[in-house]
Amino acid sequence: MTGSGGWKTAFLLLSVLCAHLAQADSGQARSALTVVDSSEPSDEAEEAPVDEDVDEEDLEVFQPTDQWQSLRPGQAVPAGSHVRLNLQTGHREAKVDDSSGLKYWTNGQRQGMVNTEAPYFSTKELKEALKKFKEEGVEPIDKEREKKEEAAVRAQYRPLEELKRDMEQMNMMVETDFQVMTRLVRQFNRSEATLEERVAALLDLEYLVHQVDNAQDLVSMGGMQLVIDSLNSSALQLQESAAFVLGSAVSSNPRVQVEAVEGGALQKLLLLLATDRPLSVKKKALFAVAALLRHFPFAQRRFLLLGGVQVLGELFRAPGGTALRVRVVTLLYDMIVEKELISQAGLDPVPDSSHQERLRQYAKVSLLPLLAEQGWCGLVPELLSSPEHDWREKALRTLLAMMPHCRELYRRDSRLARSLSALQEQYQQLAEGERGLGEEDGYFGEILTLLDTVLGGVR
Ligand SMILES: *[C@@H]1O[C@H](CO)[C@@H](O)[C@H](O)[C@H]1NC(C)=O
Ligand SMILES: *[C@@H]1O[C@H](CO)[C@@H](O)[C@H](O)[C@H]1NC(C)=O
Repeated sequence: MTGSGGWKTAFLLLSVLCAHLAQADSGQARSALTVVDSSEPSDEAEEAPVDEDVDEEDLEVFQPTDQWQSLRPGQAVPAGSHVRLNLQTGHREAKVDDSSGLKYWTNGQRQGMVNTEAPYFSTKELKEALKKFKEEGVEPIDKEREKKEEAAVRAQYRPLEELKRDMEQMNMMVETDFQVMTRLVRQFNRSEATLEERVAALLDLEYLVHQVDNAQDLVSMGGMQLVIDSLNSSALQLQESAAFVLGSAVSSNPRVQVEAVEGGALQKLLLLLATDRPLSVKKKALFAVAALLRHFPFAQRRFLLLGGVQVLGELFRAPGGTALRVRVVTLLYDMIVEKELISQAGLDPVPDSSHQERLRQYAKVSLLPLLAEQGWCGLVPELLSSPEHDWREKALRTLLAMMPHCRELYRRDSRLARSLSALQEQYQQLAEGERGLGEEDGYFGEILTLLDTVLGGVR
């Protein structure tokens, strides 16, 4: 074999897989560093590999454990293994190097190490690891080739020193979500913080609390109460941003929902909705109320007891509230449907005990009679006059859901009958056009079916 052929070009590609996988709540911290040995056999077929006389099965990589094990001839030893000669048997033996918390592993052409004891590798550990990979992970090659290879590596990749410097900086910069939230809560809570700084901290928190664990951490670090307390701050921007954070934190997060209700969030949000505030504040407050009530019958009951339905009614009727109307009706509709679905699920052949408990809780949420009592039978149809299809759709669905409690009223309401008939005519045409375009189960057809059903119910 001659010249450049035959030997494998072995580069050590250093990639930090995951410098930081710290899990704040479990206190576990691991680091992982991977070195990929991109050994590429030469393209030219006649250039046989150096170890051509070694049996195929012997090429397998030795899998070191923490015990000494004999090596078979030709077996490759992964980087980071300890190798020794057993003087009694004459065999070479190897095991993983388990000094320090560094564990080495190998998987095909990938070699790596994991630090099981600390979230970071120290510079010293990195240097050692790189040396180890370099010394043991590469087949010995002659000096001249080594020089050529080094030059090639240098040309293609950044110098090792630079890489290490980057990693060092990264170690210092990587912050866990928990650390970021701690910093933001501190920034928010500083007595000399400006309004802008506080709002900025809240908006950053809002981004983080979409994650279930983060929202729970916010509660445990006392940040949630600060957010709730800001709902009645004297600054409108703080009210708005606090409602935003709260709504995102409680979304699909039962534990945080409980904390928020117990922290008095519901009263404060209702106060924002019931008093004169800009639309932007009310929108966020409504968003937070809806998220707080969803799948949480305890909060729904509190909402009813605190006069929530009345507050929403005033919001619906307010002259400037047009933009909020469909949101208000959606909130009520969701509550009605949620309870219905729960009681339907009660028909399951094997009801479990938690289901019984849920049924019991929802039984205490008596929304429909209250809606009828507070004039909602007459309010919901107002949405039908909207030019928006989805508003009309929402109104029709809500009408249907409220039908058992509003039927008598609807039967006597000739204005409702007229507007439903007019809509029916309109959607018959729209649905026809839809079918003409080949859409059998189109959106307009769906609305038409809803209209037919509602009309059938009020006639
Ligand atoms: C906010 O600041 C107050 C007063 O400095 C302090 O008592 C409180 O513990 C702080 N709250 C949080 C969650 O950091
Ligand atoms: C907010 O409400 C709490 C009680 O719920 C009250 O102690 C506090 O003074 C109120 N803050 C403002 C700024 O009105």
